[in-house]
Amino acid sequence: MRSRMDDVKSYAPSAVVGQVMMGAVVAEVMESRNPKFKAGDTVTARQGWQLYSVSDGRDMAVMDPSAAPLPWYLGLLGGGGTTAWVGLFDIGKAKAGETVVVSAASGSVGSVVGQLAKLHGCRVVGIAGGPEKCGYCVDDLGFDACIDYKANGMLANLQAATPKGVDVYFDNVGGEILDAVLTRMNPHSRIPLCGTISQYDKTEPYGIRNFRSFLVNRILLQDFVMTDYREEGQRAQPWLLQAVKDGKLKYRVSVAEGLAAAPEAFLGMLKGRNFGKQVVKLS
Ligand SMILES: NC(=O)c1ccc[n+]([C@@H]2O[C@H](COP(=O)([O-])OP(=O)(O)OC[C@H]3O[C@@H](n4cnc5c(N)ncnc54)[C@H](OP(=O)(O)O)[C@@H]3O)[C@@H](O)[C@H]2O)c1
Repeated sequence: MRSRMDDVKSYAPSAVVGQVMMGAVVAEVMESRNPKFKAGDTVTARQGWQLYSVSDGRDMAVMDPSAAPLPWYLGLLGGGGTTAWVGLFDIGKAKAGETVVVSAASGSVGSVVGQLAKLHGCRVVGIAGGPEKCGYCVDDLGFDACIDYKANGMLANLQAATPKGVDVYFDNVGGEILDAVLTRMNPHSRIPLCGTISQYDKTEPYGIRNFRSFLVNRILLQDFVMTDYREEGQRAQPWLLQAVKDGKLKYRVSVAEGLAAAPEAFLGMLKGRNFGKQVVKLS
C-alpha cells in the first residue's frame, strides 16, 4: 500500500487520487448473483478501504469465521502467513539447525516467520523496536533471542545472539539493519528480501556499506513479491489453518476503529506504533 502512494515504478500500480485505496478485507456478502457465494457468507477479498463494494467474485474466497478471529484472515491466515512461509522456505530454504534472523519481528509477517522457523528446528533471533516487542517475541512466541535495534549496542547484541553466524536473514526493513546483519552472514547464507520499510519514506535511500559480504560469503539475496507466488501461498494456507487450530501459532492484532482512523493507523504502522497486524474495523 505504501509503494502505491508514490508515483514511481513499483510492482503494484500507483493509487489514483480520488479512487478507493486498495487493500485486503474480510467482509460479509450482502447479496449475490454468483453461485459460489450466498448472502451471509464471510469472505476475504481485495476490495479496498470502503464499506460496500461490488465484486465479480475473482480474488474472493469464503472463509470459516469460527476457526480464528476475523483479522487473522488478513494476516496469519492471509498475506502475512503466506509471505512468511514462502520467504522462509521457498526463497530462504531454511533448514533445521540453522540460525534465522528476522526483522520487524513482532509484526504481521515477522512474528510468523519466527514461529515457523522455531517449529522447523531453527535457532531464531528477532530484531524489533523496543523492550516490549522484544519481550513478546521471546516470552510469548518462543524466539531464542530478540535484539532491540533502538537500544545502544545493537551490533554487539546481534553478535552475542548469533554465535554461529546467520544462515537466513528474513529482511523486512532494509537500510542500516540489513547492513548490520550482513556482518554476521555465513558462507552460502540466504537473504529473502521481503520488504524495506525503513526506506519507504526516504528521498535519499540508505547506501549499504557491507556490500563486500555478498562476495566473501557467496550470499544469495532474492527479493520476492507474493503476487508472483500465489500457488505457493495457497499451498501454505491449509497448513497454517491447521496449525492455528492445533494452537501452534500465536498472533497479535492492533485494531483501529472506523474508516476515518485508517490514515492515522497506516502512518502509525510505518512508525512501529502497531503491535502485530494492523487492521481497521470499518463497521
Ligand atoms: N514481499 C511481499 O510480498 C510482502 C508482503 C507483505 C509484506 N511485505 C513487507 O513486509 C514488511 C513487514 O510488513 P508487515 O505487514 O508484517 O508489517 P508489520 O511488521 O506488522 O509493521 C511494520 C513494522 O515495521 C517496523 N519498522 C517501521 N519502520 C522501521 C524502521 N525504520 N526500521 C526498522 N523497522 C521498522 C515497525 O516495527 P518495530 O516497532 O519493531 O520497528 C513496524 O511495526 C514490510 O516491509 C512490508 O512491505 C512484503
